[in-house]
This record gives sequence, C-alpha cells and structure tokens, in this order.
Amino acid sequence: MTVQNSPAGGPGLPQERRLVTEIPGPASRELLARREGAVARGVSHVLPVFITAAGGGVLVDVDGNSLIDFGSGIAVASVGNSAERVTERVQAQAAQFTHTCFMVTPYEGYVEVCEELARRTPGDHDKRSALFNSGAEAVENAIKIARHATGRQAIIAFDHAYHGRTNLTMALTAKNMPYKDKFGPFAGEIYRMPMAYPLRWPGGPAACAAEAFGTVAQLIHTQVGEDNVAAVIIEPIQGEGGFIVPPDGFLPALAGYCRSHGILLIADEIQTGFCRTGDWFACDHEGVVPDLVTTAKGIAGGLPLAAVTGRAEIMDSVHVGGLGGTYGGNPVACAAALGAMETMAAGDLAGRARRIGDIMLPRLRKLAEAYPVIADVRGRGAMIAIELARPGSLEPDPATAQQVARACHAAGLVVLTCGTFGNVLRFLPPLVIGEHLTEEGLGILEDAFASL
Ligand SMILES: Cc1ncc(COP(=O)(O)O)c(C=O)c1O
Repeated sequence: MTVQNSPAGGPGLPQERRLVTEIPGPASRELLARREGAVARGVSHVLPVFITAAGGGVLVDVDGNSLIDFGSGIAVASVGNSAERVTERVQAQAAQFTHTCFMVTPYEGYVEVCEELARRTPGDHDKRSALFNSGAEAVENAIKIARHATGRQAIIAFDHAYHGRTNLTMALTAKNMPYKDKFGPFAGEIYRMPMAYPLRWPGGPAACAAEAFGTVAQLIHTQVGEDNVAAVIIEPIQGEGGFIVPPDGFLPALAGYCRSHGILLIADEIQTGFCRTGDWFACDHEGVVPDLVTTAKGIAGGLPLAAVTGRAEIMDSVHVGGLGGTYGGNPVACAAALGAMETMAAGDLAGRARRIGDIMLPRLRKLAEAYPVIADVRGRGAMIAIELARPGSLEPDPATAQQVARACHAAGLVVLTCGTFGNVLRFLPPLVIGEHLTEEGLGILEDAFASL
C-alpha cells in the first residue's frame, strides 16, 4: 500500500534532501508499530524510517522525505541503489530463470563473476572462486578451505575484528554486545591478537606498526606455535570495530610473516572491497597480496552474494563436493554483480571514492580542531570515520556519538555508528553520490556538533 505513491527508485530520483515531516513521519511510525508486532526484537534498525525508493545518494521514505545517505546500507549500495546496469541485468536474468542451483546444473553468470573476481582481486596468480550468500558464509568457507589446504587448525583473529554472526564467525568477531552475548559456546581454535590501532597503541602511533607486529609474532610463537596456524584473518581496514586503519607497514609485515611460516593470509574485504577505499581492494593500497580474499556487500549492488577467491592450488585442495550450498551464486545475484562491477569500472568508482575522501577529510579535520571531543579523523576513500573521546583523554564517548547521530537523522542525514566502544561515527556514502550532497551532509554533521 505504501509503495503506490512513491517515485521510482534509481539514479533518476531527485538528488536532494527534502524533509516534509518530522523524522520519523506518521506513515513510518505506523509501520514501526506493525513491525513491533511482527518482527523479532533482536533485529535492530538505526533509524525507523521505512524506505520506498532509493538511488544515487538519497533514500526516500513512506512520508515523502528524501534523506542523504551516508550509510549505503552498511557499505553495500556502492554503485547506488537500483543502479541502471544492475537493474537491467537483474530484470533480464529474472525473466530467463531465477534458480537452478549451480551444483545441479551450472550457468554462465556464476563463471563470469568468478572470472571477474580473478581479474579484480589483488595478485596476478592463478585464482579460483566459490560463491556464497553472505559475508559470514564466505568467511566460514575461507576458514574451511584454509584448514583443509594446510592440514592445520588454529586461526588468528584480531582485537576489534568483525567477521559475522554465525557460530564460527561469532568466534572470530571480537565484540561481545550485541553480537555474541549468551550465544556461545563458540567454535574453538581461534586465537585473538592485538590490533595495530594507532590512536590507542600504548607506544603511540609512530611505534604502532612495528610494535604491534612484533607482539603478534611473539604471541603466536609462545601461545599457539607457528606450525599449528592455518590462517591469519584480518580486515585491511577494520569495519564494525571502528574503521581502524592499520599504520603503513603492518599489513605487509604480516603478509611476509605468514609467507615465511606457511600460514595463509585471509583478507576479509567484505566491507572494504569493491572500490570503497579508493582502490578496488584495500589490500591494493600497500600492494599486499593475500592468499584468500572474502568479499560480499558491495559486490552485487544490493543483492545477496559473497565470494571466497584465492590461489588456485589452495582453493582446489578441497575435494569435489566439499564446498557449496543451495543458493550460493544465485543467477540473479550474479547478474547484479556483473552489472555492479561494470558500473564500477565504467564510472571509475575507485576514483570517485578517493574524491569523496578528499572532500570529507579536510572538513572533518577542521571540525576536530573546533571540537576536542573528536579524538581522531581517519579512513580512506569513502570509508571515513571520526572517533569521539572525552576531551583530553582517550575515554570513549559513545553518548556524544549517539547524540550527534540522532541530530543528523532528525535533519535528514543517515549516518551510522560503530566501534568496540560505540564511539565512532562512520561515513559510507554510495560512491555515486553527488558532491553537493556530500557537502550538504557534512554541513548537517557540523550543525549537529554545534548543537551539542
Ligand atoms: C569485514 C566484515 N566481514 C564479515 C561481515 C559479515 O557479512 P554479512 O553481514 O553479509 O554476513 C561483515 C559485515 O558487516 C564485515 O564488515
């Protein structure tokens, strides 16, 4: 009923912020009441506006409000919602067939996506991919493959890591609330290491890369044993944990260490991948070539698809039938992925991401000078964040982060928070967002700080 009067979504939507009611408006509030009677409480939302159309850099709600999108549905709609090449390919594929199961009777789209992944992911070695439905499922499979290929069991993960909500990925994820609390017991043979987190590294940011790497190597040696480690899994820029950018040198050192001990390096590029950080993949920034890469989110313009891509000999160490699932690499999702990757290449969305960073970072740094509660401004490309702490200390300030986020929402700007301490505001606009909306969104954020 609510969709009837909505404009069509996609890049043709007026690229403007327009508030015609309070946020949330009456129609959203009505749907919220219905939601409360039907949807499980454990499934949360950031702001209770119900969307009927989206495209470019805006989300339109059931009350006719048009909001600026600095969230991209958590780094998914990088090519924008209902992007032309995505919807064209999806419609054409849906009209042909919607499912056969690749494990029953295969189809070309799956193969084409794997070929694209081989071309786009870091490294020019021979690669193979397997497709899945969600990021967590891709991570689970990367771990399965790494254990199978190495015959080892231990997996190294990091403080502040987020890898998903299934049982094995909860074990890899660092943060208890809301992801893990009372959901255990968790999978075994996971060992957690300190993350190179420049702002909070005890020895200071300049010493962070070398000291963090040294600590990790020492802890693996004393607590796990190099020969027992199948893989190190790391987000090249940590996402849910707070947009933590490791200092230059840390990832290459880790990659070299893994190589010298026969340990596989798994880069979880689920949030950072597909042009988000200004390169096709965040590992490209320092020329790091992981053995396995997990991808999802931005891969398919909003349709559920995920992948593990890796060295052919590692991927193919798994016996026939050892990988798969009913829906993995669904033909409609594959069509969407091909449309999304085509859009990224044709529109140089990596360049657009860098441009977004170039607009955002200087304004945010200026904001940090005016408001000492902003302890750090960081990120790369269109994956940018500010971390809030009580002035003069590093004591996290999640309350102010929430207050700022709420003020932004009320003014029609969708922003998300993240971080182990809930004190980070993160900005993930669609890479196709117009510069006028990026600027306007930053203005709203500045007003939110002014209103504290
Ligand atoms: C780095 C990373 N890994 C894994 C996941 C899990 O992906 P999904 O929610 O599709 O299962 C996420 C989701 O936020 C993520 O950011």
